[in-house]
Formats: sequence, C-alpha cells, structure tokens
Amino acid sequence: MNTTICGLQWGDEGKGKIVDYLTESADIVARGQGGNNAGHTVIANGTKYVLHLVPSGILWENKTCVIGNGVVMDPVGLCQEIQTLEEQGISVSPQKLLISDRAHVVLPYHRELDAAREAALGKNKIGTTKRGIGPTYADKANRIGLRLADFRDEEEARELIDIRLAEANELLERHGLPTFTTDEVLDAVRPAITRLLPHVTNVIPTLHAAWKEGQTILFEGAQGSLLDIDFGTYPFVTSSNTTAGGASTGSGLPPNAIERVIGVCKAYTTRVGSGPMPTENEDISAYFHARGMEFGATTGRARRCGWLDTVLLRLAVMVNGVTDLAVTILDGLDERDVLKICVAYDIGGERHEFPPSSRKDWEKATPIYEEMPGWLEDTTKARSWSELPQNAQNYLNRLTELVGAPVSFVGNGPEREQTIIVEK
Ligand code: IMP
Repeated sequence: MNTTICGLQWGDEGKGKIVDYLTESADIVARGQGGNNAGHTVIANGTKYVLHLVPSGILWENKTCVIGNGVVMDPVGLCQEIQTLEEQGISVSPQKLLISDRAHVVLPYHRELDAAREAALGKNKIGTTKRGIGPTYADKANRIGLRLADFRDEEEARELIDIRLAEANELLERHGLPTFTTDEVLDAVRPAITRLLPHVTNVIPTLHAAWKEGQTILFEGAQGSLLDIDFGTYPFVTSSNTTAGGASTGSGLPPNAIERVIGVCKAYTTRVGSGPMPTENEDISAYFHARGMEFGATTGRARRCGWLDTVLLRLAVMVNGVTDLAVTILDGLDERDVLKICVAYDIGGERHEFPPSSRKDWEKATPIYEEMPGWLEDTTKARSWSELPQNAQNYLNRLTELVGAPVSFVGNGPEREQTIIVEK
C-alpha cells in the first residue's frame, strides 16, 4: 500500500522511526519536499544515524531511495551525509539513491541570503535553520533557480548563476555580507555535484513503473503540518508544503496513487524556532530538558515544549487526510501525574475548535484545557496495546475522539522494537 508519512505538529515528531519501521515492507522510500533543514534520527541495531536529505530507507539493503523534484538539495551537505553513512558501513550507490533532475539546488548564496533575511527581520525573525531553504524555494517560485539538470552542462549553469548573482550580490552587499563570483559558487559545489550526477535522473517513470507493478512506495515527510507554507503558522513556517499533498507535487506520483496517510505526532507538543505555540509551558520544557530530551537533531537548539494541542492536530488530520495516527514518545509522559490536553482556543472570549489564520489571533489564542490523570508507570517495556497502563490507553483514546483519527502506532522508546502496533 503506497503510504505518506506526515508530521502533524511543528516537525521533530519522530517520523524517522515510523518510516524506518514501515520501510521493512516498502520497495521505494521517497522524499518530496524540504531539504537539509530536516533531521531524522534513527537508531537501528544500536547505531544512531542522523539523516537530513537521504531517505531513511537507505539503512536497509535492497530498498530504492528517491529524492523528488520538490526537495531543495544542498549538494555539499548531501555529499557529507553520504560520506558519514558510508563510514558507518551503509552503501549509497547510484542504484540505491536516485535524485530527481528537477530538484532545485541550494547554492552558497542561498545560505547567506537566508542569514540576511533573518537579520533584516530583527525581533520578528523566523528562526530558520539557516540552510538556505527559503531563498532556494523563493528562487524556484521566481523562476531564477537552478535545477540539477542545469548542472549537466556547466556552461549552462554558469550563465544562470551569472544572472542570479547580479541581484543577489546587491542584496548581500547592502547587509554587509560576503558577495560571490560565479567561479566561487561553481568551485564550491563542483566536486559535490560531480559526485552526485550519477544519481541524478528522471525519477517519474521509475515511480510510476513501481506503482503499476504493485510495489510499495513510502513517502517520508519532512517538518510538520504547522510548518506548511499554506496551512501552518504563517509566516513562522518553512517554505514548502509539508502536508500530504506535497508528496505528489514533490515527486510526480499522483494523489490517487497514495492510499494511506500516517500522521505522526508526539504525545505532547514541541517547536523549534519562533512563532506561536499556545500550549508552550516552562515547566514541561524544563522537565524534558532535564532528561536530556528535546534538543534539535539539525541545529542542537533546545526545543520549546508544551502540552498536547488537539486544535492543531484537528486541522492537521483534515488537511493531510490522516488515516492512521502514530503517537510517539508516549514514555516521555511516564513521570507526569496530571496531563493536560488543549481541546480548543479562547480567542478574545470566543471558543475556537480550529487554529486561526491571522497573526493577531494567533497572539491572542489561549488554550482551553481538559485534565486527565497520568499513569506514573514505565511504558517503555510494553509491546502491545493491552500492556499499556489503562490511563495511557484512556489518554490515546481521548486523542482519537478529539481529532477524528484512530491511533495505529504508539512509540514508547527510541529502539526499533519500541513501536506498538495497535490491532484493529
Ligand atoms: P527553514 O525551513 O530553515 O526556513 O526554517 C523555517 C522554520 O521551520 C523554523 O522555525 C525552523 O526551526 C523550522 N524547521 C525547519 N525544519 C525543521 C525540522 O526538520 N524540524 C523542526 N523544525 C523545522
């Protein structure tokens, strides 16, 4: 069954682990959006792998991994990632990793432009990962981006970079940031692009052939639904469609090829970067940080933590068409005696079941909570739904009632075997 896995919060929901788990029965694992702003940590056979651009199917033998057209690809970052994987004994051959020739390339000036934009925003900054993601997608939309196909002929790439730099340098100069010559840009990426070109191909016929042959394709979403450029907490979002539709537009496999959407959420809420987070709570943040939990895989930043927010999840379940929920890090709540669930927002005295759109309303949104008793038991050893404490089952059942999707997976620890499959 072709499946998309999407984050339902602000990223970092633990999608990598669920993807890794489902990869066992997949033939192809694909990425359709985002770039190396993402960081997926997968622990397999006691080894920790941190993946940014490479789909986590790479950790398995005989799986094909695809980086689709919707991904923005930092060639230097990707080569470093491949090198680290190879040092860890994982083979990354051109047969195993296919990269769309339509994918846009993150170039050194994109990272500088990202920094310039953030500096210009001052206290309103987005808190980006500074990987050049926004400027690369902006160039794509402005039709001045470079795609991998353009690098098959360096002279063509040179001409396009010349045109782009004329404007980019002006902006960088204004911010007192380093400017670039075309040669500098090409020299910076040439070894990486040369290394990657054997992987670069038209992936669309490959995906369609796999679909028609009845193979299983798994899409690994990056970031989360509330970081979606259309449905998230705009402008505090990333620059791609992180929701399920992004898998199709970002790969060339149509929506009707995708039969299942697994929405991944933590048993609580976290966020990195700026922007509204109604259930953010200092006590919960301190609780996780004291346990060494909730520091970002990509930037190492401490994440903001808070109670489970079903207002966000209700919207995310709708726009993704979630068929199954995967609730991760349930064990994170093992030591809390009382759990709060945000069921609605109060905005200016009015009750709202769905997140607002306007920036002003987001600022005013205060959570309306329901309280449930915690379970105060170690859940990490449970291997089935029935082994979970009754109060944990009640908490998950209430989540289903509030957001309208069934819980099919429960994560209760970082190891592969710490994923409970909920029998229907
Ligand atoms: P950008 O994607 O680097 O432009 O950052 C935009 C926003 O998305 C910032 O708030 C980042 O912290 C956030 N973000 C981007 N990628 C991730 C991710 O993989 N996990 C969590 N947050 C992310």
